[in-house]
Amino acid sequence: MIRRIREWRIDRMTDRVARRPHGRAARETYGAPDVHSFAWEPVLDALALGPDDRLLDVGCGGGIFLRRALETGCYAVGLDHSREMVKLARRNSGVEIVRGEATALPFADGAFTAVSSIVAFFFFAEPVAPLREFRRVLDRERGRLAVYTTPPELKGTPAAPYPLATRGHFYTDSELEGLAREAGFAEAGVTRPDGAQLLAARR
Ligand SMILES: C[S@@+](CC[C@H](N)C(=O)[O-])C[C@H]1O[C@@H](n2cnc3c(N)ncnc32)[C@H](O)[C@@H]1O
Repeated sequence: MIRRIREWRIDRMTDRVARRPHGRAARETYGAPDVHSFAWEPVLDALALGPDDRLLDVGCGGGIFLRRALETGCYAVGLDHSREMVKLARRNSGVEIVRGEATALPFADGAFTAVSSIVAFFFFAEPVAPLREFRRVLDRERGRLAVYTTPPELKGTPAAPYPLATRGHFYTDSELEGLAREAGFAEAGVTRPDGAQLLAARR
């Protein structure tokens, strides 16, 4: 019984702070102008966005990365399953933000030329279904993906502190690359910007 209550509390805390952020502290965290800014340049380098790109950011949180991505001239859309993050991202980015699940993207096949996901993949309970969805909504010719996530050795560090880390899903570089291939991506590779993990793939 005590164990069940403890697990429930960890789930509730994980949701509030990161997995489905809500509440004032979460709005402040994900509305901060530099939240997860360490991930932006690696992701933007991998995607090489330009004015003829259509970007989807999955797990967009407060929409701050979208604001940066717009500087490339691209068209952008965000998606998040947290009601509060959707509201915040609409206000912060000024672009279309859709409330939805990474495993069931409410977009047509090939609707985007680029998909990004920053510090969100870690929370996906099952990794291949969202990757298949990312691939489905990507353009056949030009579609590329950048997923910025946390590697296993950062478990228990400030990047993935306990007890939240017990709710995360960590993959080695080769596992991550294998997941992308299993989802159907033709080219996939993992790099380590500043010790984090960046999966870059082409449809
Ligand atoms: C740690 S926050 C990161 C937010 C943002 N990408 C950033 O870098 O500031 C993770 C975000 O992913 C969203 N998220 C987690 N799982 C999701 C899912 N299955 N579908 C859609 N959004 C999800 C959460 O609601 C949250 O806003």
